[in-house]
Amino acid sequence: NSMLSWQRTAFHFQPEKNWMNDPNGPVFYKGWYHFFYQYNPHAAVWGDIVWGHAVSRDMIHWLHLPLAMVADQWYDINGVWTGSATILPDGQLIMLYTGSTDKHVQVQNLAYPADPNDPLLINWVKYSGNPVLVPPPGIGARDFRDPTTAWYTSEGKWRITIGSKVNKTGVSLIYDTEDFKTYNMIDGMLHGVDGTGMWECVDFYPVSIIAENGLDTSINGQGIKHVVKASLDDDRHDYYAIGTYDEKTAKWVPDNPKIDVGIGIRYDYGLFYASKTFYDQNKKRRVLWGWVGESDSEAADVRKGWASLQSIPRTVALDQKTGTNLIQWPVEEVESLRLTSKNFDNVKVTPGSVVPLDVGTATQLDILAEFELDKDAVHNTAETNGEFSCTASGGAAQRGALGPFGLLVLADESLTERTPVYFYVVKGNDGKLKTSFCTDQKRSSQANDVNKIIYGSFVPVLDGEKLSLRILVDHSIVESFAQGGRTCITSRVYPTKALYGDARVFLFNNATETSITGSLKVWQMNSAFIRPFSNNRSL
Ligand code: FRU
Repeated sequence: NSMLSWQRTAFHFQPEKNWMNDPNGPVFYKGWYHFFYQYNPHAAVWGDIVWGHAVSRDMIHWLHLPLAMVADQWYDINGVWTGSATILPDGQLIMLYTGSTDKHVQVQNLAYPADPNDPLLINWVKYSGNPVLVPPPGIGARDFRDPTTAWYTSEGKWRITIGSKVNKTGVSLIYDTEDFKTYNMIDGMLHGVDGTGMWECVDFYPVSIIAENGLDTSINGQGIKHVVKASLDDDRHDYYAIGTYDEKTAKWVPDNPKIDVGIGIRYDYGLFYASKTFYDQNKKRRVLWGWVGESDSEAADVRKGWASLQSIPRTVALDQKTGTNLIQWPVEEVESLRLTSKNFDNVKVTPGSVVPLDVGTATQLDILAEFELDKDAVHNTAETNGEFSCTASGGAAQRGALGPFGLLVLADESLTERTPVYFYVVKGNDGKLKTSFCTDQKRSSQANDVNKIIYGSFVPVLDGEKLSLRILVDHSIVESFAQGGRTCITSRVYPTKALYGDARVFLFNNATETSITGSLKVWQMNSAFIRPFSNNRSL
């Protein structure tokens, strides 16, 4: 059975078969986490898009539900596209989504639960007055999509933003509404950045500069910054920026114009797109979902009968130590899957060596690691040229005085296949260290129809901090978080040998001058229950 192919993951959300893309309308409602997603019920490639639906108590174990919305109206007959949920103060749930019309025009539509008392929200009603928004003058008919969750203004109105482009400038348009049926377009826009192209799946939300908890989308005022995120259709990555939102003018300004939306920092330097956050009022946190596609060939997807995963949901908050980036971390519920663990304390890895970590089967793991460089080597090195870029480098095989070092995951015994997840430290002319965090897919698979590029970016490391790393390994996905989630890399890998009982994990240090001391804790991870609807009457 091709559905049981080894690339299937054990604790990441996936439909039973066929194609999935963007997360849609995530929300916590009457005790259940709801997850909707862009879904093709007919094939393992994009097309015929409708809304899939699943529910969970913890965002780890899932019950698949019937399709929430299908393409059955003139205004969404070419696709029930991406949208977002808003919970009104009285508990009412509002869903706004993009429809691709009979003429392929992108319009916004309103939907709501048929029975608000059904905690599973099985049936959905589309508003009889749809569409509620059509492309405004000056905006292309196919450049107007993905409405956000609404937030409340001090004037007692709801406000949403919708991604678009004007020539090559990516923009987010702003609308106010009182009833989600009629809207007022606000002059100008929330924000726009030249040269970034079409903004898909815009996200907009507040973060606290003092508190650890997440904030409801409508919260504004003292001690709050706002994040704008856009998914760039042109380069297929999710970029965010932190800045200040002025409610009166409905405009947002980045803190640092060099780290603006689409030209600055990314949620993830691997495969992670069309993401969306929601405020989880159950645990007072903001949770980020992201679509993780396949990086093998489309023919392989068709053969295996499915394509795409969702990332492990991540809590997202402002990094209060740096103030300039977000922190992303797997939701704590994933820790309920941890089984037996092994500790490795102060393992010394000399330059150019590899140390096997005996953890048993290594296809489902949660790894925490900390590394220290050799202080003398760092002090004494003559290599002070100080430049490094993961993506422009030769990967984990490129040697420098102070890097690379880290882990080899999904490796086979003989290391013909391995995926290095690693740090690379360089010393600048000023004597300061600069750290990059990378994943090298070059030798991740012997197959030749798979992506083998090198991912990564800079990671901020503050004085006195050790280098730290978390990796979730789940058969064909490696999700990595450096320095507590300042820089993240999600990778899809397709080993042909490092499977099931043959998968191993190693420590490696390919630096030429420094040795490394690593301390790790590695857990075996249980599989999640992700069950078909028909088998779950008892729930
Ligand atoms: C992003 C996207 C959205 C659109 C949806 C269609 O991946 O292109 O802009 O609404 O997917 O499936």
